[in-house]
Amino acid sequence: MNQKKDYIIARKQQQALRTHIDQDPYRLQYHIVPPSGWLNDPNGLCEYQGVHHIYYQYSPFTAEWGMKLWGHYTTTDWYHFQECEPFLFPDTKEDRDGVYSGSAFVREDGIHFFYTGNVKYVDRDYDYILEGREQNTIEVVSPDGFQHGKKQCRLTNHEYPADMSKHVRDPNVFEIDGIYYMVLGARDVNDRGCVLLYQSIDGLQWNYHMRITTNQPFGYMWECPDIICVDSQWFLICCPQGVNQKGIDYANIYQCGYFALDINVVHKTYTLHEFYELDRGFDIYAPQSYEDQKGRRILLAWMGLPDADYHNEKTVAYGWQHALTMPRILHATNHRLTQEPMEELKQLRVSETFCVFNKDTMIHVPSPCYELELELYSVSELHMQVAEDVYVTYSQEIVEFSMGESGCGRTKRSVKLTNLTHVQIFVDTSSIELFINHGEEVFTSRWYRNCFDFPIHLQHNGKIEGTYYALKGYQIQRENV
Ligand code: FRU
Repeated sequence: MNQKKDYIIARKQQQALRTHIDQDPYRLQYHIVPPSGWLNDPNGLCEYQGVHHIYYQYSPFTAEWGMKLWGHYTTTDWYHFQECEPFLFPDTKEDRDGVYSGSAFVREDGIHFFYTGNVKYVDRDYDYILEGREQNTIEVVSPDGFQHGKKQCRLTNHEYPADMSKHVRDPNVFEIDGIYYMVLGARDVNDRGCVLLYQSIDGLQWNYHMRITTNQPFGYMWECPDIICVDSQWFLICCPQGVNQKGIDYANIYQCGYFALDINVVHKTYTLHEFYELDRGFDIYAPQSYEDQKGRRILLAWMGLPDADYHNEKTVAYGWQHALTMPRILHATNHRLTQEPMEELKQLRVSETFCVFNKDTMIHVPSPCYELELELYSVSELHMQVAEDVYVTYSQEIVEFSMGESGCGRTKRSVKLTNLTHVQIFVDTSSIELFINHGEEVFTSRWYRNCFDFPIHLQHNGKIEGTYYALKGYQIQRENV
């Protein structure tokens, strides 16, 4: 199913599948989910003429990894969403095995999208690392985010440095002083992760400029890079693969994090500061960000992870898998990024209950989807049972998030934190996002509880006040077929 016309035929036949999916009790209510099938990375995020475009890696008719299109939603207010026809199909020889991840760059004449055209040779056996694959950097221009012009191949394997493997992908374009730069994630022939920077004066001709990597090897491949400036500090966000776990750090199979970056693109010099994990949860990967017309840096990520040993079998049984995280706003202080839930999420609140939490308190939240916000004063010990077997604890300056069977293989993740002052939890039917100290640390996870109506039990040694809100879901207008 590579062509739009095949999609349209198949889509018309999928009504029964969609009806089935709608009955899934674990179908998320206020997250971007694939209409059916599989979703991974957010792509092409941008706001254009007041409309936010959210594209994503999409395999519409299989709940497992499959042929990739770019699915598409739009919104103007982050409460009403329009599900649109997929935007990109793998219909040329340069992208025939998948329209892989990419980004958007808004210019006067429309939105310029850059993505990776994946091509996999099948004429003989290949290792698909050093041989057997093309990763073409392709540009398409769209006047409105819905239609697009001809696909133009801007870079092929031949234009990547000679010591690169065949894994170079996920272009992301930005501008410094009127010059365009494109960052690409890469794996070199010695299995070292890095990113490549290309430069362009006119946006058409791209020349290799420099590479950025750590002094000591840090994984074999860096996927989905994003070079951004937040509160006057530059950052490189990326997803290194092949980094070993170190104590409580790097506990997921692949990492998702950032380096503060001091860079001088004219002199081709840079310093990468320490790498921090963007999120400490089990289901986080391939983040992408963009600046909206209010000047906010909005980040969305894939609420999932490839090759993890935990699963989402419950939704797969209904014919879909994965979601994007809630939108988050980035800020920076001292080489660190914080992520706060976007203000517009307040539109989801349907009831509000203020609470003072005594040392040992049980509260009953009257909705499977809710937000709980806590202000903590002098709390050095916290034990919170969020559901049957889901706990958030704070003790000896460690925040721990743990799950039993409802985690479907997810166990425990933690982070060091010297002071706990604020906790904000967002629970959807099968996801939980935990923002600590206004997004200094975040834990994002899927989970599959048996009981949707379980009291929250909170024990602590200080003072806690809080508010809980029952939340309603997004209003989604379905694609016309
Ligand atoms: C990250 C990733 C990207 C690639 C895309 C394919 O999850 O592997 O590197 O472009 O997914 O779907």
